[in-house]
Amino acid sequence: MTWLVTGGAGYIGAHVVRALTGAGERVVVLDDLSTGLPDRLPPGVPLVRGAVSDRSLLEETIAGHGVTGVVHLAARKQVGESVERPLTYYRENVHGLTVLLEAVVAAGVRRFLFSSSAAVYGMPDVDLVTEDTPCTPLNPYGETKLAGEWLVRAAGRAHGLATACLRYFNVAGAARPELADTGVSNVIPMFFGALTRGEAPRIFGDDYPTPDGTCVRDYVHVADLADAHLAAARRLAELPPGEDLTVNVGTGRGVSVRELADLVAEVTGIREPAPVVVPRRPGDPAGVVASAERIGRELGWAPRYGVRQMVASAWEGWRLRRPEAAAPGGTGSDG
Ligand SMILES: NC(=O)c1ccc[n+]([C@@H]2O[C@H](COP(=O)([O-])OP(=O)(O)OC[C@H]3O[C@@H](n4cnc5c(N)ncnc54)[C@H](O)[C@@H]3O)[C@@H](O)[C@H]2O)c1
Repeated sequence: MTWLVTGGAGYIGAHVVRALTGAGERVVVLDDLSTGLPDRLPPGVPLVRGAVSDRSLLEETIAGHGVTGVVHLAARKQVGESVERPLTYYRENVHGLTVLLEAVVAAGVRRFLFSSSAAVYGMPDVDLVTEDTPCTPLNPYGETKLAGEWLVRAAGRAHGLATACLRYFNVAGAARPELADTGVSNVIPMFFGALTRGEAPRIFGDDYPTPDGTCVRDYVHVADLADAHLAAARRLAELPPGEDLTVNVGTGRGVSVRELADLVAEVTGIREPAPVVVPRRPGDPAGVVASAERIGRELGWAPRYGVRQMVASAWEGWRLRRPEAAAPGGTGSDG
């Protein structure tokens, strides 16, 4: 197999590339480097610089590298930005995917794996979110992921592709510091940012119906997520044409924002200023925790890493890019 990994120079994509190449699969990466970094790629993995909406570049890449399967990660992913710029999000995430699927179908590629998100569920009012929980996304980002799933499954059924949609929950951590997420919009980097600026980390609301009153989420280590891609890629080889496998990638365990803040203080060694509670943000669900039953049953996948390892490895990555953030008494390497 040769896999085309779109967005392979991104945070998650680079981990997926390593999981695939580490297991002996051939990989070519297509990435426009809008947020990706070429030095995240292991030596020997070809990088084609360009957009997934460039049909002729896709045709050249698929034919030139003998691509037999696609892992499609390239997308815009900022929820707030998607509210302000919905047309950009639909163009990049939905139109781009349409062009990619057209090229894939025309070239006779038969395996397609799509990065989806727990954002498709919106505000699920259940203890554990199963793949059958109704999808009611709350913002254009989540809508483009749900529309993406529809497109992938419809194209798969019509054109005989085996497809998989992986709905990632909250992705965190890094397999190596240089592969860490460079974004600052998720809760762990937001806490790091506040603490290293000497500011109090903000907890949005502590009056939710959860054990400690703060929001509960399901965090998955990016290395575990990459392993899930490898398992799904292998499974696609066994799926009959036109079949789809849609699975949550989460651990089934919830961690509250308060617990996370405590862990961040412990790992970084920065305990002051203590977190402050500020009003709830509109649209934040109280708890979103995956049922990990289907992924365990279908792919034999189970997470290897816990949230402490996610925070510790994310902190290593943060410090690599910001050496000035080295904290007195930090215990970031205790994994
Ligand atoms: N990070 C998360 O917590 C999370 C959660 C759920 C789903 N996802 C999904 O996972 C995927 C990867 O996310 P990430 O966190 O690695 O983000 P990222 O921004 O680090 O990676 C995206 C990569 O795609 C590239 N890219 C973007 N648009 C492109 C285009 N039109 N053509 C070619 N390349 C393009 C970027 O340069 C980057 O390398 C996305 O589809 C995202 O929606 C991420």
